[in-house]
Amino acid sequence: MRVLVIGNGGREHALAWKLAQGERVSQVFVAPGNGGTARDERLETVPIGMTDVKALADFAVEQKITLTVVGPEAALAAGVVDEFRSRGLRIFGPTKAAAQLESSKAFAKDFMKRHGIPTAAYETFSDAAVAHAYVDGRGAPIVIKADGLAAGKGVVVAMTLAEAHEAITWILEDNKLGVTHNEGGARVVIEDFLEGEEASFIVVCDGKQVVSLATSQDHKRLLDGDVGPNTGGMGAYSPAPVVTPNVHAKVMHEIIQPTIAGMAKDGLPFTGFLYAGLMIDEHGQPRTVEFNTRMGDPETQPIMMRLKSDLFELMMHATDGTLDQVELQWDRRVALGVVLAAEGYPLNPRKGDAITGLPDDEEEAMVFHAGTAMQDGKLVTSGGRVLCVTALGESVRLAAQRAYELCPSIQFAGRQYRSDIGHRAIKR
Ligand code: AMP
Ligand code: GLY
Repeated sequence: MRVLVIGNGGREHALAWKLAQGERVSQVFVAPGNGGTARDERLETVPIGMTDVKALADFAVEQKITLTVVGPEAALAAGVVDEFRSRGLRIFGPTKAAAQLESSKAFAKDFMKRHGIPTAAYETFSDAAVAHAYVDGRGAPIVIKADGLAAGKGVVVAMTLAEAHEAITWILEDNKLGVTHNEGGARVVIEDFLEGEEASFIVVCDGKQVVSLATSQDHKRLLDGDVGPNTGGMGAYSPAPVVTPNVHAKVMHEIIQPTIAGMAKDGLPFTGFLYAGLMIDEHGQPRTVEFNTRMGDPETQPIMMRLKSDLFELMMHATDGTLDQVELQWDRRVALGVVLAAEGYPLNPRKGDAITGLPDDEEEAMVFHAGTAMQDGKLVTSGGRVLCVTALGESVRLAAQRAYELCPSIQFAGRQYRSDIGHRAIKR
């Protein structure tokens, strides 16, 4: 069987790596892929852009692709699933309409309110004066979010009113971010600040049923100690001990199941990866910070390292609507991934720096590629998050130790990485 993975990040490298281990899988293509998928003998890189949905579907027909798996939100928002399905091609992901759970914060918040799914109280604004007045009335801390896809950079957690006003001006008046929601124009969602610890809770959905993947925790801030600007994610590990069995049951019962049922009821049955970004308070009550309609990056890298079951078979069940027949097997060890980012990330990452010192792949330690490219036979940086060094270990501390042992030898000019990935779990 031939498989196509759409995307170019570390998430897609990890998905493709795992799919290639499938018993029935003969070949895995990645479009457009990256330097890592190009170097990997088990994978084949295809130069088609991830939002070029017609060309991707043409490729799937020509190459007799059995299954296509979508990595990034941009491809979903471009309607890749709708295009494939209209041509009778098997693809795993949500339709463009269902992907609004991620692509429009306002859609997601209205959906959660309508279906009683726990989340922070919020209002939506397109008029800056009204937004400024709302913030004054509500007080700080408060959270200001651009409505639309902003790759994790459209959220300001304002600890003071001054920061909140500045964020409104930035997003709504100057529209510096250039993010627009589905009907065009800038819009902000302003919501109450939630206290607690975050976790990533990702499930596979076939429209009616779900199978949960192992839990994980991301590190969104650039710098050690969770300070500095928000990023796409600087490291992750799995499982996340903050998701106790009790919290897990609550999340399934109060968030995941009502979401799947609500989407079906609203005429948008959800197929694909559903990622609930959670805030879990000190009483173990989970609330939804955001939905993503795809796997997390870098969460995918440690999750795939721990998955023992055949990912291809899981995706086949998910696209057949037979997830009730699936029980996943996990490595009981911890997996932890450290992102090596380029100089200037997240605002202005520098590209084109030579990468040296990559270790060989091992079953227990993998370097997944993201912003890398092959240039004249050499591996160079080509994006903000460059690599994710991921290792298994008997504990979070040991997985971290193993991953961090590998980092110093991997060199490129301006390389930056956090030295405390996993710190919340190590403190416990
Ligand atoms: P989002 O893109 O919505 O996931 O937001 C990015 C990050 O901002 C989240 O991972 C949280 O760390 C933080 N954040 C977002 N919304 C809230 C909230 N209501 N309360 C506290 N932190 C938040
Ligand atoms: N790591 C966070 C995300 O994928 O959105």
